[in-house]
Amino acid sequence: MKKDILTLLDLAGDDFEKLFKRALELKERHKKGIADTFLAGKTLGLIFDKASTRTRLSFEAAMIQLGGTSIFISAGDTQIARNEPVRDTARVLSRYLDVLAIRTYSQDLLEEFAEFADIPVINALTDLYHPCQVLGDLLTVMECKGSCENLKITWVGDGNNVAHSWINAAAVLNLNLVLACPEGYFPDQSIMKRALGKGCGKITVTSDIAEAAKDADVIYTDVWASMGQEDEQSARKHVFEPFQVNKELLKMASRDVIVMHCLPAHRGEEISEDVLEGPHSIVWDQAENKLHMHKAVLEVLIKGVDLVR
Ligand code: CP
Ligand code: NVA
Repeated sequence: MKKDILTLLDLAGDDFEKLFKRALELKERHKKGIADTFLAGKTLGLIFDKASTRTRLSFEAAMIQLGGTSIFISAGDTQIARNEPVRDTARVLSRYLDVLAIRTYSQDLLEEFAEFADIPVINALTDLYHPCQVLGDLLTVMECKGSCENLKITWVGDGNNVAHSWINAAAVLNLNLVLACPEGYFPDQSIMKRALGKGCGKITVTSDIAEAAKDADVIYTDVWASMGQEDEQSARKHVFEPFQVNKELLKMASRDVIVMHCLPAHRGEEISEDVLEGPHSIVWDQAENKLHMHKAVLEVLIKGVDLVR
């Protein structure tokens, strides 16, 4: 049966372990200059309805570096933009491609794609989730800290798509996740409820940023207004100002705290320039790991390496 990654709840703990292990192997091979061709003859399609630098290029580079090919099309250039039903597009593309990555607004649209496609469908970001981002992020935390367990992982800012994927990861991997968000910008309640319902992980939401940052091992932030929320930018700026990741905040955290950001970063808004460029920041390694993790994801989905669910 084909496997999709639409949210991180599509993966079990063992699946995460397999992906981490494989991503690290592929990273090492890449560093040694070994040219792999596991995906020769395979084609990744990417349909993106929102801007992207890292996700698009790391998926494309991953495919090429594993011997395969990728084809990108902006959603606006497809017949979907002229109302061809998603279910028709999904069935046709399944005849051309081996795997499909979609970046769009609606999670429902992505799920409809996955329902009607015979090939694996990957969520490359929706308004609700960014699962592949967090897979790469977890790999980075593991590399820096040896493990994701027994860490206080603090999210600072908007309870958005990336935060939701962290919540799902915490639920599956039994993480200690604290989210510090302004009132009114907490994560989606139904996503929280589903995650907490899994009974794993200590996931708490607060608007007390000092309490959230206290002794944190990881501090993660993201933009205050995500793609699609551009018209809320100025209203959000005012509300989110106390939620900046800056030097003062880092003083409350663990001495060897790592600072993460999925990028693109808005210096002087959600993160200060000195922290982004400072010794605690691991954002460039984090961005690099998207490449290695996407290789593992593509290989596992295309080759049908057993995943638990
Ligand atoms: N982090 C991330 O998804 O970046 P892009 O929007 O550039 O793909
Ligand atoms: N929350 C951000 C993430 C960008 C990678 C957005 O959706 O725009």
